[in-house]
Amino acid sequence: MDLRHGFDIKRYIRTIPDYPKKGILFRDITTLLANLHAFRAAVDELAWPFLKGGIDYVAGIEARGFILGGAVAHVLGRGFVPIRKKGKLPYRVIGQEYALEYGVDTIEIHADAISAGDRILLIDDLIATGGTANAAIDLIRKSGGEVVAAAFVIDLPDIGGSKLLRDKGVKIHTLVSFE
Ligand code: PRP
Ligand code: ADE
Repeated sequence: MDLRHGFDIKRYIRTIPDYPKKGILFRDITTLLANLHAFRAAVDELAWPFLKGGIDYVAGIEARGFILGGAVAHVLGRGFVPIRKKGKLPYRVIGQEYALEYGVDTIEIHADAISAGDRILLIDDLIATGGTANAAIDLIRKSGGEVVAAAFVIDLPDIGGSKLLRDKGVKIHTLVSFE
């Protein structure tokens, strides 16, 4: 099965200047999510390289990675593992601090969410500095999991995160880029 739609996902992404800080061009996916064709195309495009198997769990990063990652997990017929901002997960956690394009934060995963050797597809909406995804990859690896690939709707290649992760040996799948 080939889920590629040849759909222009990019035109459904809205750009908001100076949010959340002056100088940031915020790439807003709420307009993409609200359109059933664009949402479906984005989810299917994220999932298609992995339809043949090789994934045990889909992990998604709070908050926008939950929306896309949950849908990708459904398409692939796999379970979903949430990677959340600090203090949100109820059981024992492993945490990792990271730098954002606009701040510092910590993400956490349940300590028992992933077992040794589990093959993980990591999903988020966007990669900028790569700080968030890099921290999520470190969490998955600390849990004993293997990151098969990290997939994003949006790449901001000039900020360098996708290159950083590729240089670290992570397979990256992105759908659209904003230079
Ligand atoms: C955004 C985005 C990614 C991250 C990318 O999330 O959804 O997770 O930033 O930036 P980076 O590559 O520079 O790390 P944000 O932290 O704004 O959280 P949100 O999804 O809760 O809005
Ligand atoms: N996360 C980090 N940088 C971002 C941007 N420019 N737009 C939307 N989300 C982001």
